[in-house]
Amino acid sequence: MLELKSLCKIFNAGTINEVMSLKNVNLRIEDGSFVCVLGTNGSGKSTLLNAVAGTFLVDSGYITLNGKDITQWPEYKRAFHIGRVFQNPFSGTAPAMSIAENLALAARRGKKRGLGWGLPDTLLNSLRDRVKSLNMGLEDRLDTPIGKLSGGQRQALTLLMSSLVRPDLLLLDEHTAALDPKTASKVIELTEKIVNEGKLTTLMVTHSMQQAVNLGDRVIMMHQGSIRYDFQGEEKKRLKVNDLLSLFDELRRKDQIDTTVADLLINSYV
Ligand SMILES: Nc1ncnc2c1ncn2[C@@H]1O[C@H](COP(=O)(O)OP(=O)(O)O)[C@@H](O)[C@H]1O
Ligand SMILES: [Mg+2]
Repeated sequence: MLELKSLCKIFNAGTINEVMSLKNVNLRIEDGSFVCVLGTNGSGKSTLLNAVAGTFLVDSGYITLNGKDITQWPEYKRAFHIGRVFQNPFSGTAPAMSIAENLALAARRGKKRGLGWGLPDTLLNSLRDRVKSLNMGLEDRLDTPIGKLSGGQRQALTLLMSSLVRPDLLLLDEHTAALDPKTASKVIELTEKIVNEGKLTTLMVTHSMQQAVNLGDRVIMMHQGSIRYDFQGEEKKRLKVNDLLSLFDELRRKDQIDTTVADLLINSYV
C-alpha cells in the first residue's frame, strides 16, 4: 500500500518563480489498485510521481510504501521497489546496450549479489520468452542496441523491464504521449496486460480521458497541486469521458472567476 500524508512541495521558494506544486496531498492506494491520474498542464501530476520516486525530497509530509516510511530515502534506494516509465522513450534504458543486456540489468534489480555481466543461457531463454510475449518480433533481435529501436518498441521494452522483478509500485508518466495513436494503443494494451497479470499497484498519468475511463479501478484529477476529484468503485465504473470533460470545464471556469476576482481586488486598491 502507498500512503501519502500532507505532502507539500514548493519549487523556487522565496523567488518570484515560487510555485507550490503539491499542496497538502493526501492519498492512500491499496495493493493491486490501478489509478489513472488526470489534470491540466502544470497541475502537479509529474511532481506527485517524482515525489514518490524520490527525484527530490518533499518539503513536508510523509510517504509510506508497504508500511515503510520512505520519505527520506534517496531515489536509488526507492528504485529497488518502484518501477518507472516516462513519456520520453529515450529515458530509462541504456541506448548503446543491447536488448538482452538491458533486460539482464533489469532482472538484477534489488539483488545484492548479481549474475555478473554475462548472460547464462537459462536467463537468456526466459528473457527471450518475455520479449516474444510483446508480439513485436524483437525476440530475434536481442543483440540489437536499444537505441536503434522505434519509440514504441522502446516503451514496450521499458515496461517489460520495469516489471521483470515485480515492483511494489509502478509509476507511468504519460508513457504513451510521444507515440503515434496506433503504437500508443498497443503500448496501452501491453500496460493493461502487465499490470493485470502482476496485480501491480500502479499510478498512471495520462492526458487521455478515454484511457482513464477504460483502464484501472480509480481515477484522480489534480488541479493546482491538489487532488480535486477521486473516483473509485462503482463511481469509477460508471464514469464517462463526458463527465470528465465537464469537470475540466468546471475547474477552468473556477480559475477564470478566481482571476477576475483577483483583478477586481487589485483594481479596487489602486
Ligand atoms: N524541477 C522543477 N523546478 C521548478 N518548477 C517545477 C519543477 N517541476 C515542476 N515544476 C513546476 O511545478 C508545477 C507542476 O508541474 P508538473 O508536476 O510537471 O505538472 P504536470 O505534470 O501536471 O503537467 C508547474 O508549475 C511546474 O512548472
Ligand atoms: Mg507532467
